[in-house]
Amino acid sequence: MKTPRLTLVGAGPGDPDLISVKGVKALAAADVVLYDALAHPELLKHVPEQAIKIFVGKKKGVCQFKQEDINALIVENAQKHGHVVRLKGGDPFIFGRGHEEILYARFFGIETEIIPGISSSYSVPELHGIPLTRRGLNESFWVVTGTTREHELSSDIPIAAKSSATVVVLMGMTKLKEITEIFLKEGKAELPVAIIQNGSLPEEKVAIGKINTIVSIVEEKQLSSPAVIVIGEVVSLHASFWSEVKEHKK
Ligand SMILES: C[S@@+](CC[C@H](N)C(=O)[O-])C[C@H]1O[C@@H](n2cnc3c(N)ncnc32)[C@H](O)[C@@H]1O
Repeated sequence: MKTPRLTLVGAGPGDPDLISVKGVKALAAADVVLYDALAHPELLKHVPEQAIKIFVGKKKGVCQFKQEDINALIVENAQKHGHVVRLKGGDPFIFGRGHEEILYARFFGIETEIIPGISSSYSVPELHGIPLTRRGLNESFWVVTGTTREHELSSDIPIAAKSSATVVVLMGMTKLKEITEIFLKEGKAELPVAIIQNGSLPEEKVAIGKINTIVSIVEEKQLSSPAVIVIGEVVSLHASFWSEVKEHKK
């Protein structure tokens, strides 16, 4: 009888090489893997052939598994088979509900381990040469959700818009217009914005502009989710910012 245990592993932003060595070792020692849509399927090559692999992500944008079902699957599989690896996109503790899964498993006396991942929030901009902080330009960055539990835009965005912080919005694509209107109210029509969809993957798409142009650029280039929205002066450090701005002048 194997000891029931859970290892929560961050898969990184998309590129399967951006997982940690420790994450790969955990996958190689798994009896069961529960994985999300944002965890690259190629990562399953690290999992032993005989291990059970269960997809618990969204299909065509629809959640087939509720969080309660996933929690129950973790416990059930750990008790039945031993080592469950829960593989989640980016970092499991950044808008990932990883903490809820850890607490649930602990409640059932299951041993847990946490292996952080590289979050899309900072790595996707970084892969495009956009630093979230830059001496002289800003003093902080905010990572905010575009979609709260009530499906609303976070009330933190209007507060962040008043500051000089870089504002990174995850899960915000359906509310992009609303987000730009908040910054327009603050007189920030000229503030640079970058949007990167499927960052670090071959199907990646990028839109670069300003608060007053980004909505039409996104429509023109047909960007959608999953995407990271980066708002702030640091976006002007992107290699093609000035040429893009010239092309889409308002
Ligand atoms: C539920 S959140 C999970 C975030 C994840 N835990 C992380 O740390 O990256 C999902 C959102 O993350 C962002 N995201 C995740 N992977 C991405 C990628 N490769 N490119 C762009 N955005 C990504 C999108 O905003 C997406 O809607």
